[in-house]
Amino acid sequence: MLRRCQVLDVEGIYEVETKSFKPDDVYSIELLKFLCAYCNDYSYVYVADGKIIGYVITCIEGGAAHVISIATDPQYRRRGVGKSLLCTAINLLARGEVQEVFLEVRVSNEAALRLYKAAGFEVVETLKNYYSDGEDGYRLSLRDRKRAKEFCYSK
Ligand SMILES: CC(C)(COP(=O)(O)OP(=O)(O)OC[C@H]1O[C@@H](n2cnc3c(N)ncnc32)[C@H](O)[C@@H]1OP(=O)(O)O)[C@@H](O)C(=O)NCCC(=O)NCCS
Repeated sequence: MLRRCQVLDVEGIYEVETKSFKPDDVYSIELLKFLCAYCNDYSYVYVADGKIIGYVITCIEGGAAHVISIATDPQYRRRGVGKSLLCTAINLLARGEVQEVFLEVRVSNEAALRLYKAAGFEVVETLKNYYSDGEDGYRLSLRDRKRAKEFCYSK
């Protein structure tokens, strides 16, 4: 079940985050609390088996939705949770509430890149040394409303 993120969810989010990212890429509890409160209207948790198994934090920047962080607990991957979470942001584009959805990803993150490319995201920029260990990132953008609808309304 998807529901809006609340500040009380932050510990559950942090647990999924620490299982999903390299230690240097993990956001602190304090930052998560801030993001969850500040971007509350657009950030969601996915609850199953009585716990948080995935989350997405999306903030609105101008006319664009910026997906700041997204992850699924490793035990629950490849079941459509990541797609459901990503679609909370993509649906803003599908409904015309924003003109663009964008995000950053490590160039080596094949699983995430497959998900984003399946959704219609395109690489718009390579971000040199974007991550703290020196790895490059890609900035990906989705502006195609038709594509956004097709991806999120299909099974
Ligand atoms: C990226 C991530 C959120 C995907 O979550 P998920 O719940 O497994 O995603 P879904 O089950 O909805 O997958 C949707 C599609 O994405 C693609 N995909 C997801 N994981 C994949 C993998 N390991 N290998 C290849 N394709 C993959 C597939 O096209 C998949 O559809 P399919 O299962 O029908 O083939 C998850 O792998 C994760 O939490 N990774 C660690 C954190 C991270 O890297 N976040 C992104 C930072 S930018």
